[in-house]
Amino acid sequence: MMFNSNHVDIDILSTRAYNLRWATLPKGVIPLTAADPDFPVAPPIQKALKEYIDGGYLSYGPAEGLPQFKDAVARDYKIKNKVAYDSNCILPVDSAAFGIYLCCKALLKPGDEVIIFDPVDFLFKYSAEKVSAKTIAYQTPQKNDAFDFNELSSLINSKTKMICLCNPLNPTGKVFTREELLTLAEVVAKHKDIIVLSDEIWSDIIFNPNTFNAFANIGHVFDQTITVTGYSKSYGLAGLRIGSVLCPNEMIYNQVFESSLHQSTVHGTNVLGQIAATAALNDAQHWLSSFVAHLHKMRDLAVQKLNEMPGVSCKHPEGCYVLFPDITQTAYTATELHENLLEKARVAVVPGLPKWFGSAAEGNIRLSFATSEELLTEALDRIHNFLESHK
Ligand SMILES: Cc1ncc(COP(=O)(O)O)c(C=O)c1O
Repeated sequence: MMFNSNHVDIDILSTRAYNLRWATLPKGVIPLTAADPDFPVAPPIQKALKEYIDGGYLSYGPAEGLPQFKDAVARDYKIKNKVAYDSNCILPVDSAAFGIYLCCKALLKPGDEVIIFDPVDFLFKYSAEKVSAKTIAYQTPQKNDAFDFNELSSLINSKTKMICLCNPLNPTGKVFTREELLTLAEVVAKHKDIIVLSDEIWSDIIFNPNTFNAFANIGHVFDQTITVTGYSKSYGLAGLRIGSVLCPNEMIYNQVFESSLHQSTVHGTNVLGQIAATAALNDAQHWLSSFVAHLHKMRDLAVQKLNEMPGVSCKHPEGCYVLFPDITQTAYTATELHENLLEKARVAVVPGLPKWFGSAAEGNIRLSFATSEELLTEALDRIHNFLESHK
């Protein structure tokens, strides 16, 4: 059992896990907040980092990234998604978040329009706005899980330059079907100057019987697709700030590379992050399968427990290790529930606020379940008890 409470070191987490988690909260509060696992990284990653450090040198790496990292990303992507990216067109970046920003910086001009799903993680909107592009919300289907991307075509005009796809979708856990993505690809194929920015950071965290389909492998829009991914979710490497941008051709790669400032050493991707992610991709796949098996159990346990709580209704996420229950039938708004749970139940959750996930997130809270069964059960029991006694 690699994922029980013996493997969650709260003492260490309390000094290292920031971003709304252990190190930022009073002792005793269980943080089901930022999607960052409570488990230490896989042994092969620890070994690779130790060996590199034991070598004694922490010199500059190559501006385009370490060849072994680029090869590992290309190989892993080909094995998992049957898409052959040229490793020369893969750029390591300081996190998936920064990769999203770099793509926006490289490809958008002020006033260009970017279509962004609502709800979705805030990073797309944040990045597009940072380069003065205009974001257009695509209100995703609420009740019915099926997406009809034909509806999205009505949002496209001559200023539309990018569509941001988050697959699997944080925070709802939606995993897009091949058919849904084919419809999107058909829409995109009609507009040759539109790029799809496909954020696939969650693509390893998929629960059977759902399957992941990479957008780069759908239809005939490979040249219009940039894939961004990262290693924070699957491998717990968030603190190393490491991700990658997979470009369809040299032209787009050069644009992203230039905007990265890596060639000047003003920026550059930390070598240790690349070493850790290379080990993760090459040597931690067995560990990853066990992690996903654990998460599958935690998902089922948590969904059942949430649906037993008064006023709470929760669907099974198809991917991602976050739950996004509807809390509109409780006596609380998302912000009130978040505050009450923190103070009275000693559990931290993320309120479904527009600033985190878009306006459609209202009436929901988000909970991460990348923890042990013991901690998850304790946290959910505390929430249940709070809601029972405050109906
Ligand atoms: C959809 C999505 N993209 C990107 C990120 C950021 O990942 P990173 O730590 O690599 O910046 C997250 C993290 O929550 C995410 O959920």
